[in-house]
Amino acid sequence: MKKRILSGMRPTGRLHLGHLVGALSNWVKLQESYHCFYMVADWHALMSEYENPKGMAENSYEAARDFIAAGVDPERSVIFIQSHVPEHLELAMVFSDLTPLSWVERCPTYKEQLRELKGRELTTYGFLGYPVLQAADIALYKADSVPVGIDQLPHLELTREIIRRFNSLYNKKLFPEPEPILTKTPKLLGLDNKKMSKSLGNFIALSDSPETIEKKVSQLITDTKRIYLKDKGHPDTCNAFSYYAIFADEKMRNEVRNWCEGAAIGCTECKKRLAKILIDYLAPIRERRAKLSDSVIEDILRTGAKKARETASQTMDEVKRLVNLAV
Ligand code: TRP
Ligand code: SF4
Repeated sequence: MKKRILSGMRPTGRLHLGHLVGALSNWVKLQESYHCFYMVADWHALMSEYENPKGMAENSYEAARDFIAAGVDPERSVIFIQSHVPEHLELAMVFSDLTPLSWVERCPTYKEQLRELKGRELTTYGFLGYPVLQAADIALYKADSVPVGIDQLPHLELTREIIRRFNSLYNKKLFPEPEPILTKTPKLLGLDNKKMSKSLGNFIALSDSPETIEKKVSQLITDTKRIYLKDKGHPDTCNAFSYYAIFADEKMRNEVRNWCEGAAIGCTECKKRLAKILIDYLAPIRERRAKLSDSVIEDILRTGAKKARETASQTMDEVKRLVNLAV
């Protein structure tokens, strides 16, 4: 029996290069050795977007399209939208009963998000329960492992605590304690040198056209100390170069370093080359994307939800019996 994985992404905007190198490419690899459940976490997105949820449904479908275009294989992995599987909320309800308030209140991601997403009313009942729902996502499929970025570790730790409490309260090892599979995320900042983020709009989306990529790359902030063409550049403190470091082959990388340090190339030219590299890098995804019609995506998601529900409803049956709800 293959071990199980569950992971998810929130459809608060289009998926971008950060998602690709940080998570998606890892998801694709993990399919070889695990039974994978990959989810578009729209209930989680709604927690922060509820005041203006415009475009969310579309983002959910586009996220699924990006998963598949990037290489997540619907034949091997279960791809679904969270809200299509109502059992997530049922298990979250049970978990919320046994999660002490202090556990969620002290969650560092909660405090951080309140700071980051200021301007939105996030001191809500639902948002406080964010990690409880995430625990339910994971436990519902009895996932052994969860591929996540380092920022999600507190949520995974909370998941483990909730699961331990559940297992011990009802005296049954129903859920495994999930292990994180940490993605070694190469640091990729947004075009403006700030954290890549949907709200800042400083990212290159997987669905961007070559023209858009070119335009965005031309806006990339480079070595700010380099003002004239004859000034020598500092690739290690240049954001454009950090993209080369991830997306270019070694030869190109070394060449650019030498040119830059020897003032043999200007930043405009350097970024033109970079745009070409990114356009080529994303070409297979773009091509696969274009071939995936709406009806194909809808079909995959319908099948995915059905498969997910088979597992989820079985788990919920077991849970209901354990907590003595009338089944
Ligand atoms: N909180 C995750 C994020 O923002 C998304 C998510 C929701 C998730 N449910 C999950 C990740 C379950 C892993 C497992 O990135
Ligand atoms: Fe950055 Fe390239 Fe300019 Fe050097 S030449 S500072 S690597 S953009």
